[in-house]
Amino acid sequence: MGPPGAGKGTQAVRLRERIGVVHLSAGDMLREAVKRGTPLGLAARGMMERGELIPDDLVAQMVEERLRDPECAAGFLLDGYPRNLAQARRLSEFLEKSGRRLDRVLALRLPETELLSRLTGRRLCGTCGAGYHVANKPPRRIGICDVCGNELMQRADDREEIVRERLRVYTTQTLPLLEFYRESGLLFEVDATGTPDEVFGRIAEALEEVPR
Ligand code: AP5
Ligand code: MG
Repeated sequence: MGPPGAGKGTQAVRLRERIGVVHLSAGDMLREAVKRGTPLGLAARGMMERGELIPDDLVAQMVEERLRDPECAAGFLLDGYPRNLAQARRLSEFLEKSGRRLDRVLALRLPETELLSRLTGRRLCGTCGAGYHVANKPPRRIGICDVCGNELMQRADDREEIVRERLRVYTTQTLPLLEFYRESGLLFEVDATGTPDEVFGRIAEALEEVPR
């Protein structure tokens, strides 16, 4: 968990490699649906561009379908789901039915000014998906992907006014979830300032602690 731009995707990729589980990013799945023009993608597109949450039922069905996949039987890492209390309750019920549960909830914390600069400076390769940042991780040639040589793009919801809306949605709808997971003893809050390696070091430490 964590606000937009806190580094959920960046850290999830590292964690996936470290612990060898499937990484399920709700945002990536939705963007893929938009790209393919599926019914879900068509329904979600406008809401995502405005920085709003997609209706719970649509997102829950999408995630549950992946969680039923045998490749998730050995473990999974959720990124960007659940994002409100209704989704969290539904997830607990869903997992319980298949005899599974969450082991940890990691919440990244970062000041708002840093969130804004990370997001408004983010660039992605439209072809291979490699991520860059105009100041922190610039490509060798401006606007061109180092990996595949294709053009870089900006996510439609990374414009400043939309980022502010996403931050507002996070504060009102997602932040209350931290209390929900704190009460169940699963929550580990991680300082997300510093380099990706520094943040990952803190995450690795949090994973070694035993939840109460
Ligand atoms: P989603 O794709 O999940 O976006 P988000 O939560 O707003 O967060 P981001 O993915 O933008 O940021 P991140 O925390 O992953 O950071 P990242 O690693 O990329 O959701 C998008 C939309 O989908 C939502 O607005 C909603 O419409 C819909 N949606 C998704 N889930 C939903 C749900 N459950 N219910 C309903 N609707 C849902 O890093 C950001 C930038 O910072 C990058 O440029 C990166 O390179 C850089 N960076 C990362 N770490 C560092 C570091 N340590 N130092 C410097 N730069 C860094
Ligand atoms: Mg992300």
